[in-house]
Amino acid sequence: MPRISTHLLLLIISLLGYYARIDAQNIELPCSFPGSPAHSTVVFSNVNLTHGTVASYSCERGFELLGPARRVCDKGTWMPEGIPFCGKC
Ligand SMILES: *[C@@H]1O[C@H](CO)[C@@H](O)[C@H](O)[C@H]1NC(C)=O
Repeated sequence: MPRISTHLLLLIISLLGYYARIDAQNIELPCSFPGSPAHSTVVFSNVNLTHGTVASYSCERGFELLGPARRVCDKGTWMPEGIPFCGKC
């Protein structure tokens, strides 16, 4: 087996560390459950609520949705930030 010099080994290790840090910066955080307003139903495009998941809100019969009908998980935050609610028609 060829001997790998200590210097080469250290170079490889520092490169691995460098790329690991770059990866860590690009992690796209998932969101937590955004809650569902009273009299509403919320459906997610991805059950794991990962970055890019779309939450779609709808209301029971007799109620109308006030606020955004769709919110998108953007790196751990649901956008837009306002939570919709269902008001009696
Ligand atoms: C959600 O997470 C589980 C467990 O990590 C995984 O097996 C599954 O494939 C994921 N589902 C989606 C839609 O990403």
